[in-house]
Amino acid sequence: MSANTLGSLFRVTNFGESHGPAIGAVVDGCPPGLELSVEDIQLELDRRRPGTSRHVTQRQEADQVEILSGVYEGKTTGAPIALLIRNTDQRSKDYGNLLETFRPGHADYTYWRKYQHRDPRGGGRSSARLTAPTVAAGAIAKKWLAAEFKTVIRGYMSQLGPIVIPFKSWDDVPNNPFYAADAAVVPELEAFMDALRKEGDSIGARIEVIAEGVPAGLGEPIYGRLDADIAYAMMGLNAVKGVEIGDGFESVSQRGSEHGDAILPDGFASNHAGGILGGISSGQDIRVSLAIKPTSSIRIKRPSITQQGEAVEVQTLGRHDPCVGIRATPIAEALLAIVLMDQALRQRAQCGQW
Ligand SMILES: Cc1cc2nc3c(=O)[nH]c(=O)nc-3n(C[C@H](O)[C@H](O)[C@H](O)COP(=O)(O)O)c2cc1C
Repeated sequence: MSANTLGSLFRVTNFGESHGPAIGAVVDGCPPGLELSVEDIQLELDRRRPGTSRHVTQRQEADQVEILSGVYEGKTTGAPIALLIRNTDQRSKDYGNLLETFRPGHADYTYWRKYQHRDPRGGGRSSARLTAPTVAAGAIAKKWLAAEFKTVIRGYMSQLGPIVIPFKSWDDVPNNPFYAADAAVVPELEAFMDALRKEGDSIGARIEVIAEGVPAGLGEPIYGRLDADIAYAMMGLNAVKGVEIGDGFESVSQRGSEHGDAILPDGFASNHAGGILGGISSGQDIRVSLAIKPTSSIRIKRPSITQQGEAVEVQTLGRHDPCVGIRATPIAEALLAIVLMDQALRQRAQCGQW
């Protein structure tokens, strides 16, 4: 069966195709009375929008959101919130030479094997354009979490290819196109990306997402573990190849005496766990890290096959993100917000807290 919905009590259903008339989401389960405006959502969509710097795809999409239902006189009513984003830049010819073949690393091959049908208008549902409705829904979750618990969810890029970007300050993050937390590294990142673009190649990235002000008690002990829900949601983001919680794979070389966060009368002494123990939030910051693969659509010719199985060389022209990680930060924040709001509503339903 199709799986286009994320969440149990806060449910986000995603619809549309990258080159169809519109994309959007139906958000069901939002409690009534939350103040919500188009601007609240637009603010987040503008952070994800393509065409905002020379280091991302030059596809020009306004990504203007319309709220069709579920909000009356500036407040949520409890009815499903339908969010619509019309596609305005549907230049399908960017994909013209790809219809008979498969880009190595992209979803073309597996879509063909699964559906035996190709969407002639581009990547269809495999396009990261479908992350815009996620960001729109995540804006609602961010607003609700902030209103209920003063939760703040923020992300930044901690690595672009070989360049490790140290965390210096949150203040630097919104002031550069990479979401880098150290503005001093930006010239190096720009030079790297300019050279990469000239070569027609692409690169991977690492993104960190942190939620502060998350109450203890979110998450179920076995199937609905908070860490499992986060990993599920994040792996649902295009191009994500790895998800770590807290110290993640670094835990392999750690000892128990180092990894286990000491508990002191005034709180935890460290946060190797990433804010989750036994699948349940501890009240510490939730720390998530994502490995994002390099873009598959590149100008460098790669060996592939036609739909008839003949050998060909594939070169992707047109407008693509040379590092998809650059635009991934707001999407990862939105996914974390959706999971946390869903788990908070579940905790409220079962344990009646708050
Ligand atoms: C924000 C964002 C932008 C993306 N832009 C592109 C792009 O311009 N060209 C491309 O080939 N892939 C792009 N991708 C990646 C593809 O959507 C994805 O890698 C592809 O469908 C294969 O799926 P998989 O990587 O999840 O296995 C983007 C991903 C994200 C998160």
